[in-house]
Amino acid sequence: DWVMGNFAQEAVEKIRHQVGKDEVILGLSGGVDSSVTAALIHRAIGDQLSCVFVDNGLLRLHEREQVAQTFRDNMGMKLIVVDASDRFMDALSGVTDPEAKRKIIGRLFVEVFQEEAEKLQNAKWLAQGTIYPDVIESNGAKTKKAQTIKSHHNVGGLPDTLHLKLLEPLRELFKDEVRELGIALGLPAEMVYRHPFPGPGLGVRILGAIKREYADLLREADAIFIEELRNAGWYDKVSQAFVVFLPVKSVGVMGDGRTYDWVVSLRAVQTSDFMTAKWAHLPYDLLGKVSNRIINEVKGINRVVYDVSGKPPATIEWE
Ligand code: XMP
Repeated sequence: DWVMGNFAQEAVEKIRHQVGKDEVILGLSGGVDSSVTAALIHRAIGDQLSCVFVDNGLLRLHEREQVAQTFRDNMGMKLIVVDASDRFMDALSGVTDPEAKRKIIGRLFVEVFQEEAEKLQNAKWLAQGTIYPDVIESNGAKTKKAQTIKSHHNVGGLPDTLHLKLLEPLRELFKDEVRELGIALGLPAEMVYRHPFPGPGLGVRILGAIKREYADLLREADAIFIEELRNAGWYDKVSQAFVVFLPVKSVGVMGDGRTYDWVVSLRAVQTSDFMTAKWAHLPYDLLGKVSNRIINEVKGINRVVYDVSGKPPATIEWE
């Protein structure tokens, strides 16, 4: 795409001019915005960029390995991977309130990131994947009621106590432009067109108290659902799809025995702006296949239900 190719060219020049010989750090989440920001800045200044990826224990299956492979192995970036999952799990232990969970996850992310940033003593710039809609949102739309229903914590909003200058090369782009730029920069389409994933990750998809055991089961079930959606050609027809872990046990039969195991719900929605959404009318065959696979392959889950709630009145995430 020549438009984005040109944008990349100009942005690269601008970044080089702005940053000079300084070092830059960036919190990489694996989401589209931070990934494209990383790829763009890396093209401009190479090893002057260090990315920090925090594993909070609430990521999707193989996510950490995939990020390391794409950015470190394939693109040759400096990437610091921090396994902070024990810290997150300890801090979240016994916490059931959704907003309290979000706050803990957001605060810990900032703490962990800050510790890593302090180790990179020559860093003068903090790069962020702020895009145009984020800019508008923080310039007033905050009064919109919908925005206050849940506090949204992202990789953004890092503290100014780091005394770093902000580098936000995507500030003028809309989401679809960011995606085009990502493709132009050579990021895999699978990454660029991935469904959105909330900052608190699986933390808001495990209802109530979070346990590592629940996160492990949820990761497996979610990977099966996503794989089957892709196989059936439905992944790109829905805006977001995922599995939710319900801390509820129900009775089942398996072979000669009775089981007493966990329940999960599938969620798939179609939306243009995520402010309202319809539940996706997935084919029964597909739902049946996903259910069979999850129950047969994920030991500890014996029942799968499908969420048929629109937004409003339900939200997309369950917490
Ligand atoms: P809801 O559940 O509010 O979700 O209908 C709307 C969109 O926002 C995402 N979401 C979040 N994203 N931090 C985020 O970065 C959060 O705390 C958060 N909560 C919801 C959700 O995945 C959906 O795309």
